[in-house]
Amino acid sequence: MAALKALASQLIAWVLAGVGWSLLGQPLAPSLTLAVLQAALAASIGALLRSERWWIAIHLLFSPALVAALRLDLPPSLYLAVLAGLTFVFWTTFRGEVPLFLSNRTTAEAVLGLLPRTNGLKVIDLGAGTGGLLRQLAQARPDARFTGVEHAPLPWLAARMNARGLANLAIERGDIWRRPLAGQDVVYVFLSPRVMPRLWEKARAEMRPGTLLVSSSFPVPDIAPEQVIEVPDRRGTRLFCYRM
Ligand SMILES: C[S@@+](CC[C@H](N)C(=O)[O-])C[C@H]1O[C@@H](n2cnc3c(N)ncnc32)[C@H](O)[C@@H]1O
Repeated sequence: MAALKALASQLIAWVLAGVGWSLLGQPLAPSLTLAVLQAALAASIGALLRSERWWIAIHLLFSPALVAALRLDLPPSLYLAVLAGLTFVFWTTFRGEVPLFLSNRTTAEAVLGLLPRTNGLKVIDLGAGTGGLLRQLAQARPDARFTGVEHAPLPWLAARMNARGLANLAIERGDIWRRPLAGQDVVYVFLSPRVMPRLWEKARAEMRPGTLLVSSSFPVPDIAPEQVIEVPDRRGTRLFCYRM
């Protein structure tokens, strides 16, 4: 939906900017002034469509950056390579779900403090990114078994590399929504506000009573957590803990 709004804002702005530019008797060729006009229109249309703030910023930058890049006369293969790289990193983020951003070391330490001292404890990170958090946890708790699930190819590859040499850390390539949670004692997520209601339904249906769901930064709407951990990092990360 967000991507469709963005596309509509860009297309409508290009039509309006093109018509206005022609009425002013200007030639329809790539020009920075035309791009700035289009960007202002796209941002305004985006705001009218109630797009989120970062989309407005993207609209303001997109066409001017495009015209500036055209002036650099870069080889087309470079654009293709950048597109391929971004696709392999961000995968389905364009659907407006979950982008890649990583938990920091301080957050990993706080998560470590939440893990029960049970031998053979099973912990899963749904959407494991590059696996840095799991690596830190797996090193600190050799008695526990850690699993990461990631669908984006490049982060998954990086997570596989991060897991090298750690017998208690497995990285799976797959969709978190299809990954059963029944065997897990702790489920960690750092996803997005949008998916939290769906995640809660999945956790309630699949996690055993007494097990723990830890969500970094994003609470489950309308559900009171058992506790909230304030992580002493610069982001002001909060860990929302839900007991099943
Ligand atoms: C915000 S990052 C968190 C990375 C890691 N858990 C951490 O805390 O550092 C979210 C990750 O979830 C992945 N992801 C999003 N939707 C997914 C899905 N349906 N299946 C598997 N991975 C998914 C994204 O590719 C991204 O790497």
